[in-house]
Amino acid sequence: MDPLTSLPAWQALERHSAQVKPLHLRDLFATDPGRAQRFSLEAEGILLDYSKNRITSETVGLLTELAQASNLPGAIEAMFRGDRINITEKRPVLHTALRAPKGSSVMVDGVNVVDGVHEVLDQMSAFANRVRSGEWRGFTGKRIRNVVNIGIGGSDLGPVMAYEALRHYSQRDLILRFVSNVDGTDFAEAIQDLNPEETLFIVASKTFGTLETMTNARSARAWALALLGDEKAVASHFVAVSTHAGRVAEFGIDTANMFGFWDWVGGRYSMDSAIGLSTMIAVGPDNFRAMLAGFHAMDEHFRTAPFHQNLPVLMALLTIWYNNFFEAQALAVLPYDQYLKRFPAYLQQLTMESNGKYVTLSGERANWETSPVYWGEPGTNGQHSFYQMIHQGTKLIPCDFIGFVNSLNPHGPHHDILIANLFAQAEALAFGKTAAEVRAEGNEEWLVPHRVFEGNRPSNMLLADRLTPEMLGKLVALYEHNVFVQGVIWQVDSFDQWGVELGKVLAVRIQPELTGDSQLQHDSSTNALIERYRQARSAG
Ligand code: F6P
Repeated sequence: MDPLTSLPAWQALERHSAQVKPLHLRDLFATDPGRAQRFSLEAEGILLDYSKNRITSETVGLLTELAQASNLPGAIEAMFRGDRINITEKRPVLHTALRAPKGSSVMVDGVNVVDGVHEVLDQMSAFANRVRSGEWRGFTGKRIRNVVNIGIGGSDLGPVMAYEALRHYSQRDLILRFVSNVDGTDFAEAIQDLNPEETLFIVASKTFGTLETMTNARSARAWALALLGDEKAVASHFVAVSTHAGRVAEFGIDTANMFGFWDWVGGRYSMDSAIGLSTMIAVGPDNFRAMLAGFHAMDEHFRTAPFHQNLPVLMALLTIWYNNFFEAQALAVLPYDQYLKRFPAYLQQLTMESNGKYVTLSGERANWETSPVYWGEPGTNGQHSFYQMIHQGTKLIPCDFIGFVNSLNPHGPHHDILIANLFAQAEALAFGKTAAEVRAEGNEEWLVPHRVFEGNRPSNMLLADRLTPEMLGKLVALYEHNVFVQGVIWQVDSFDQWGVELGKVLAVRIQPELTGDSQLQHDSSTNALIERYRQARSAG
């Protein structure tokens, strides 16, 4: 594989970026009345207006050439086909098979995995219906009123994001809670007002070996059994979602109450597998399947649309444009919809655990930047917090704005105010306010530099009709494939996560040292911190 920076398409982009950097969006719009139309794309019910980016038509042409030079078409086919593209774990990457329609075929080791996907979906649907209808009873015969998902990373962030996003569609007499942190506070607060007789725990863990999840699951079992008083109660109050039946059984959960998935589903790509059981219980099987249909529609768009009309490809290429040619270090995701309040947190794992890597597929150090820092908050809250830096800070921070034409909660003027703010922020970022405009407002001269907005801050605008389950699926798949394209171009394995391992190993070593009196053999800082903790704890 040729190093990325040696590709002629890359070098052409370097030369081109030097020409584009001095251009201002004010001038690009002023000289081109058709710019908004030319740089807008509508597909799968999503409008992407990318005209407020610091690009010209030549930029788009060169970026798509880079995608071709990086063999993106081949990479897309390899993923959908089930090739072992997660090379360091020697696994296929087939989250797209999780939403493939019944009757379609994706073969792994001679087996059509789509059949298994639909078997599990049917098993989940039957179970979700039993919980929702009250047919599934707790050990003492009471109806389940509370569902607590215990998981972390991809076994938490997807489910909690989807639950919040689809709350409007949820069965309101069921309480959903999510426990992830090993901090006992998370568990304690989640269960403090719950009755174990009415509580179902979903222990969600791909490996069923993750320290945080297993610690929380053991606490949940102890809490439930302390009140229910009989080991047999576990069968009525605990189900598992995992790829690891052996460990599920070892924990004491009957594997009849286990919902399986497969090692070709990455943790951060698993919200539409059985990991989404809590989502399905909350919104019902029909809404869950509508969400899957949305995922699938975006998969098909990604797989078939030409690159210059391909939403995930264009968004990925724009990210590469700023990340690699404008030295942008971050990207803000700003949903103007309260239901998407956990979407940025979900994207943090999806993007940064996937592409936060300095080693390329060939094992060499990348001499180019990889994943930017993704973060965000729902609008308008972010406006009163960190937008100051996006408008007037020294860093270039491209933004993805997300909005919906119709609110699920139309209250008086709220939605128009929300959307006015959404459009206003993108406008303000792009066009800013000149010194002449500030002076014309009658400001004193010394204040002028403080009140000038340079503008030329790029953003994408994603606009859809309303936040439905199907639309959520499309949005998530849009970012999944966006991340995939970035990873292909940066030549990293987007599907492993070796960088999370070392800290886990060291924690296992440190834990007994916190309470024991063993000789400490760390660096002086770590030794001193452990000592300090030991002394303070023993002093009570
Ligand atoms: O430590 C990171 C990670 O492996 C994530 O990739 C994953 O989503 C999370 O831990 C949880 O893993 P599991 O589902 O196996 O408990």
